[in-house]
Amino acid sequence: MEEGSLTPREELREIVTQLKNLLTFDHDLGLDAPPLSEASLSYLEKGPSMAGSLETLKEAVMDCRRCRLSQSRTQPVFGEGDPRAQLVFVGEAPGKDEDLSGRPFVGEAGRLLTRIIEKGMNLKREEVYICNVVKCRPPGNRDPQRDEIETCLPFLEKQIRLIRPKVICTLGRIAAKSLLGREFRIKAERGKWQSFMGIPLMPTFHPSYILRKPEMEKTLKGMVWSDIQAVMKRLGLEVRKNAQ
Ligand code: URA
Repeated sequence: MEEGSLTPREELREIVTQLKNLLTFDHDLGLDAPPLSEASLSYLEKGPSMAGSLETLKEAVMDCRRCRLSQSRTQPVFGEGDPRAQLVFVGEAPGKDEDLSGRPFVGEAGRLLTRIIEKGMNLKREEVYICNVVKCRPPGNRDPQRDEIETCLPFLEKQIRLIRPKVICTLGRIAAKSLLGREFRIKAERGKWQSFMGIPLMPTFHPSYILRKPEMEKTLKGMVWSDIQAVMKRLGLEVRKNAQ
């Protein structure tokens, strides 16, 4: 492979492999190499496992009691999808259906999001990654409060760091505001590229917003489709006419 063409993950793998070769070479020669435990050897053997790390993170989220939402939730909703997805959708917080099932975006808004992914983007839901800023349902579907967002955000940051998607698409004002760390005017600013942890971020409307405004459904869906097309172009996906 040409120099400079490695992705950060490939580069890390390369470093780990070279380190392993160096250490085992010294070890075989009986040189004064640092002792290699079985666990270190196995880690070096396999390389960093992204899926494994996401599982570890999920365990921490499932046990989390860092904020008041842990008292009223049925269960946390970690997120789901391809751990190596190129695209991550980030919503606000689980609703009732998600709280009961433990899966993100499975209610009415979720069905609309799934249609956007499958009919609009021509992808399978399992090919992207779907999660929320806040992992536990705020009671009565109220907005998550600032301290709840701040407490939960490190989980999302870690999730994004592990998945390392090419693009993030935030759904709704609160998701965009939380990731960008500033007030966000969804009507004025949706459809304009932003950045989160160096990853291009496309903010669009939340599917629930479309469902709450039936009189504007066509207009809003058109805007979301235009934002999704920008995401698809960035990912090098074919944009089909009349796909929405
Ligand atoms: N709304 C969200 O923001 N997230 C979900 O998972 C479901 C509805």
